[in-house]
Amino acid sequence: MIVGVLVGLVSLPFWLPKAVVALRNRIFTWINGPEGTRVEPAHFLAVYRNPAAAGRSRGAALSDLFWYWLAPGPHAHQEHIEPGERYTEVARTTRRILAAGHQDAPRLAAECVARVLDGLGDRPVTAVRLRDLMMPVWAEFYYELVFGRRCPPEARDLVVGNANDVASALKCTSLRHMRSRERLTRYLLAHLAEVPHALPPSLSAEDKAFYLQGAFFNTAVVQTSEGMAHLLMALARHPAVQARVRAEPDYLGPVMEESLRLYPLFGIAHRITVADLTVEELSIPRGSVVLFDYPSFHRSGFPHADRFEPDRWTGLSTSDVNHVPFGVPQNRACPARGLVPVVMRVVTAEVLRRFEVCSTATHTRSMPNRGPALLVRSGHRPTVRLGLMRVSDFLADVPRGVTQLVLGTYMVWDARRKRLCQKYFEAGGV
Ligand code: HEM
Repeated sequence: MIVGVLVGLVSLPFWLPKAVVALRNRIFTWINGPEGTRVEPAHFLAVYRNPAAAGRSRGAALSDLFWYWLAPGPHAHQEHIEPGERYTEVARTTRRILAAGHQDAPRLAAECVARVLDGLGDRPVTAVRLRDLMMPVWAEFYYELVFGRRCPPEARDLVVGNANDVASALKCTSLRHMRSRERLTRYLLAHLAEVPHALPPSLSAEDKAFYLQGAFFNTAVVQTSEGMAHLLMALARHPAVQARVRAEPDYLGPVMEESLRLYPLFGIAHRITVADLTVEELSIPRGSVVLFDYPSFHRSGFPHADRFEPDRWTGLSTSDVNHVPFGVPQNRACPARGLVPVVMRVVTAEVLRRFEVCSTATHTRSMPNRGPALLVRSGHRPTVRLGLMRVSDFLADVPRGVTQLVLGTYMVWDARRKRLCQKYFEAGGV
């Protein structure tokens, strides 16, 4: 009996996290109801590009969950606005702000990362969480893109607090803290007149603040920080690849594609069909929720798809394979797809110029551990710390998995209760 209990306890880290994920999915489906048609890789592009797959928020219970996670002001967040005049205006504004900063972006990204790395001091080995390391870099970067001036520390703390809260709630490692998010909304509202770009004229002042918060201080900061955390984590876990990037900077191109392929930032994107949709033998009626599973699409058609192999990109064009890390251009693709790879390169080069990045922690797509890593100055070999990192990360998986299960269940239930998206449309929202 005692032996059985001991074996159970010791083996917990091996099976509990997986069991918790499976249980979480079952509980989410139970609360939320089964919803949506998952589009197989064979039809993924044809359905995603189809004009009938144009609905964004209205009519999907799933939208209540995303509106909850990305609040406040999800109705003014570009990602959630239904196609129409308001969407066109908002999308045009985002493109303009990104385009205005494009030329200067590499210099700006270099300055932002240098400031954050300078602040780490000169210890031979510094333990970091890569997502946390990157958030202030991108908070300062996008602030300067939007406001056209250097980010004051007060604003940087508000943006990082907001982005961190959104990312942690999305991964169910923490609940939402609306007061902290609303502090950023108030800051943006108070400083709206200082934004040098024309903002969508049909939006109220409050909705303009929500729009900026959603597109630039949630999505942009969270996504670029996560994308960078994955890229640096992949380099940290593959020292030979890291050494090659140092010797051949152009090799970062295939490494970045491989990181985006294996760790796409979107798990599942959804759309609601606005007309009957037929693709080959597949028929999807109007009003259906269609689900695009990025990880499975990015794996189909690649040999050894679960391995991190940047060399697979040699002689391969991204348009010939199942690879859409920024979405499909015909259906609301990411407006930052031109800018992001350029600035991610600059920031990676600066980190690698100063440090060797090492990690023995697990690297999964949702990265609930926020990417534990050591930044090592040359000449040091932190073997013991790397060994300890592996053990502590492995053990932390158990309480983290249980926390995700409890908090995730609560948030899905709370989102279902609040019905933010449904109520907005019932009240005549467009
Ligand atoms: C590594 C970084 C990033 C990745 C991998 C990424 C990926 C994506 C993907 C896959 C989509 C399409 C989702 C769908 O079809 O539903 C998307 C949409 C979007 N992204 Fe990004 N993104 C990144 C960074 C950014 C940045 C820096 C911004 C800055 C404004 C941004 C703003 C948006 C917006 C506003 C949308 C919604 C587009 C629309 O519905 O019109 N993203 N992103």
